[in-house]
Amino acid sequence: MAILKIKNLHVAVDGKEILKGVNVEISEGETVALLGPNGHGKSTLLNVIMGHPRYQITEGSIYLDDVDITNYSTDERAKAGLFLALQTPPEVPGVINSDFLRAAVNSRRENHLSTYKFYKLLDSAIKEVKMPFDLATRSLNEGFSGGEKKRNEILQLILLEPKIAMLDEIDSGLDVDAMQIVADVIRKEKEKGRGFLVISHYARLFDLIQPTRAIVMINGRIVLDGGIDLIKRIDQHGYEFIKTELGINIEKEEPNMNSVSIGSCAVREVTKK
Ligand SMILES: Nc1ncnc2c1ncn2[C@@H]1O[C@H](COP(=O)(O)OP(=O)(O)OP(=O)(O)O)[C@@H](O)[C@H]1O
Ligand SMILES: [Mg+2]
Repeated sequence: MAILKIKNLHVAVDGKEILKGVNVEISEGETVALLGPNGHGKSTLLNVIMGHPRYQITEGSIYLDDVDITNYSTDERAKAGLFLALQTPPEVPGVINSDFLRAAVNSRRENHLSTYKFYKLLDSAIKEVKMPFDLATRSLNEGFSGGEKKRNEILQLILLEPKIAMLDEIDSGLDVDAMQIVADVIRKEKEKGRGFLVISHYARLFDLIQPTRAIVMINGRIVLDGGIDLIKRIDQHGYEFIKTELGINIEKEEPNMNSVSIGSCAVREVTKK
C-alpha cells in the first residue's frame, strides 16, 4: 500500500521561509482534509510535494513508498503516482487539451494506448465529469470558466489513476451541481484505494466526501492531526480555539478572522437548501 510521508519539511520561496517543519503521512485509501487560514502554507505544501521548482526545500524529506523523492522532478513524481489538482490551473494556449491528456496518460504506461482506446477512455471520463466534449478539443484551460477548469482537473485525476491525489480548493468556482459531480468522482476514486489530501475552506465539500482524518496548518506547521470532528468545530467556531486551547499565536491574523468560520460562504448557504 502506497504511503506518502513528509518529514520535517522546511520550505522557502524567494528567501522567505513558508513551511517550518511539516510532518504528515497519507496512506492509499485515506482521505485527509487539510484546513487552515489563508496564507499559512497549504498550497505551498502541495506544490512542494509535487515538485514545483519555485520552492526551495531547505530541510526535510518527502517519501513515497519509502523511496526518497525529495529531489525528483515533477514528471518523475507524477510517474511515481502523485497527482495535484491546482488551486488556479494555468491556461496553456496552443496545447490541445486532449493531446496533453493523452501524453500524460501514455507517459505513465509502458505500452501506449492506441488513439481509439484513448478516445474511448477520454469519452467515458468526460461523461463522468459531465463536461462538454468540445473542452477536450480546445487549448488547455484557455478561456475555460472557473468551474470548467476545475472539472478538467478532475478529468485528469480520473485518467491518470494516481496513488495519492492532492486537491487544492477543488470546490472553489464550482456550482452546486458540479460540486456534487466532483464529490461523486472523489468517492468513487476513494473506493479504488486512492489516497487523497484535500484542501478546502468549506465544510460542504467535506460533508460530501467524508474524509478519514483532518489536519490543520497554522504558521507553516501542522498543529492538529485528528478526527473529522475538527472540521465541524472549525466550521462553527473558526480557528480561535487554536489560540486559546493550544496557545498558538496565529501569525497574519486578520482583524475579523475570529468571527469567520470555514462554512460562512454563499455556496454552503445555497447548498443547504
Ligand atoms: N514569492 C513569494 N514571496 C513571498 N511570499 C510568498 C511568495 N509566494 C508565496 N508567498 C507567501 O507564502 C504564504 C503561503 O501561501 P500559500 O499559497 O501556501 O497559502 P494557503 O495556505 O494556500 O492560503 P489560501 O487559503 O489563501 O489559499 C503566503 O503568505 C504567500 O503570500
Ligand atoms: Mg492555497
